Amino acid sequence: MEEKRILCIGLVCLDIISVVDVYPLEDTDTRCLSQRWQRGGNASNSCTVLSLLGAPCAFMGSLAPGHAADFVLADLRRYAVELTHLVPHPESSFPTSIVISSASRGTRTILHTNRNLPDVTAQDFEQVDLTQYKWIHWEGRNAAEQVKMIQRVEEYNRTCPAHQRVSTSVEVEKPRKELYQLFGYGDVVFVSKDVAKDFGFHSAPEAVKGLRTRVRPGATVICAWAEAGADALGPDGELVHSDAFPPETIVDTLGAGDTFNAAVLLALSRGQRLQEALAFGCQVAGRKCGVHGYDGIV
Ligand code: ADP
Ligand code: FRU
Repeated sequence: MEEKRILCIGLVCLDIISVVDVYPLEDTDTRCLSQRWQRGGNASNSCTVLSLLGAPCAFMGSLAPGHAADFVLADLRRYAVELTHLVPHPESSFPTSIVISSASRGTRTILHTNRNLPDVTAQDFEQVDLTQYKWIHWEGRNAAEQVKMIQRVEEYNRTCPAHQRVSTSVEVEKPRKELYQLFGYGDVVFVSKDVAKDFGFHSAPEAVKGLRTRVRPGATVICAWAEAGADALGPDGELVHSDAFPPETIVDTLGAGDTFNAAVLLALSRGQRLQEALAFGCQVAGRKCGVHGYDGIV
């Protein structure tokens, strides 16, 4: 039987990336090592990685018209990401990011512009045929609407046999109060270092232990912490850690977190244990840090 797909819901944008040796000082004139356009956005990046890892996947997000949209659409096709759930917004502007990626420091500084592109709504999500998917992942954005979407999946799951249920995950990446309601939803909750710090935690193990009471009983909470690897707290309260797998040379950390999320949720969706999934996430994310973009992570 054909493997069911993983659906990622969130942002697709255009990243205009300048690779520099050292992050430039303000009001100086620097020559960069290279420059490129790349499809970006957390959910869209996770789809790229899923596809490269051989998992059938789909992206759901909003799309505004223009050259940038043509570029990202062609790129989604190039990576065989299913395109049936793009919600058109002909009056909106396409979101873009200016990214300065420092090859010597492994940092990426992002200046993001999103003027008026509305996020996918629960009403848009009504069109999604849930029988097609084994896992749906939400990049936390318009949280109140996203809660309604997850509730629709929970309701669907109550009506079907265990093997047809759709697993769910959410990513709480930006330290914004509105997003924190998402902690209470999803089988798996990905929390970023920035959010963990916003709660006053100083490490990934501290964060997953401290956030346990906020996720629903039986959910897994996962926190990646750059070169410190990642930690997770599983459904039975077990604490799991993976070290990072740093490449020989770090060249590009843009999308490392999106890569980690994709690899972890793919491993979990294929029935691997939390420890294996976390290690796989760190391995693939480590490989990503050693290449520009995503080609070469497998
Ligand atoms: P992002 O910067 O995209 O938010 P994270 O800090 O969440 O990424 O890192 C995700 C994963 O990527 C980490 O768990 C780790 O495995 C890997 N990673 C990120 N940065 C580094 C690094 N500097 N060295 C080694 N691994 C890294
Ligand atoms: C990386 C990324 C970029 C994008 C930015 C949006 O995680 O998705 O591709 O420009 O974050 O916040």
